[in-house]
Amino acid sequence: MGLCSFIRKVRQIRTQQPNIPTTFGENQLVHTILRRRSVRKFLEHDIEDEEMALILEAGRLAPSTVNMQTWSFGVFTERTWRETFGRSIPYGAKRAVMVLGDITRIKEATDIFPDVPLIAYTVSMINASLAAMNMTVMAEGLGIGTVMLSDTGKTGFFSAAYLKKTLQLPPGIYPLMTVVFGYPASRNLPMPPKFNIEDITFCGLYKKTERAKIRAWFSLMEAGYKASNPFSSFKSKLKYYRDNLNRAERELEDVVLGEREKM
Ligand SMILES: Cc1cc2nc3c(=O)[nH]c(=O)nc-3n(C[C@H](O)[C@H](O)[C@H](O)COP(=O)(O)O)c2cc1C
Repeated sequence: MGLCSFIRKVRQIRTQQPNIPTTFGENQLVHTILRRRSVRKFLEHDIEDEEMALILEAGRLAPSTVNMQTWSFGVFTERTWRETFGRSIPYGAKRAVMVLGDITRIKEATDIFPDVPLIAYTVSMINASLAAMNMTVMAEGLGIGTVMLSDTGKTGFFSAAYLKKTLQLPPGIYPLMTVVFGYPASRNLPMPPKFNIEDITFCGLYKKTERAKIRAWFSLMEAGYKASNPFSSFKSKLKYYRDNLNRAERELEDVVLGEREKM
């Protein structure tokens, strides 16, 4: 990528804005949802316990398949995270909620998950993801920044085997992600490259996204990566992901399918 092209792309990323019709310009929830960005640098200021309780309440009341609530939340302060994992919460965040798929309660109540490990896993992951998103939106509404983590700092499904062992998770409990919380160091974070609405929607029969659009997006991703990580290459980051995904795939197979007999 030439220097001019790089500068053009970075400018394109920086000028992206959510599409908000003027009719909704005053609506706070619209702004809360559309202006949320993943935050990776936090202030020293801690979060109030009352705010954390409200965030957890948003998780508790999230929608779930047949109201099964197939989730558990590991709730950490800086101190309890350090005591458990021997390091700080990633990105200097102040609080962390590890979100896990959990089918143990529903298994005690009924036998609807007798031999369907992939369905059980999928259902618990879907529901737990919705709970995580509800907590994220609640935090954003309170002015608290978040980032969901599944890779960084061994915090989610990429590190299923490690978390199962470290937290002594019984069969039927699957690490998904950790949402970390803190006051953002900056309020004006650029939006990473997003596809346009017409690239990701269809009406009637499924419509493939044009290849040129996909290539243009990927090229913006590369430029964005270079702009924020001038000393590391996008290529090596992709290789890291490829290797890590392959390892995580094998670990997850063990966790999801290998646990079948133990439940
Ligand atoms: C399930 C999930 C896992 C994620 N894991 C990580 C992670 O391990 N490290 C990280 O820095 N960001 C992680 N993210 C944040 C994404 O990188 C981020 O959402 C994406 O780049 C879009 O940016 P935005 O949230 O500002 O729209 C994760 C997001 C999700 C939904």
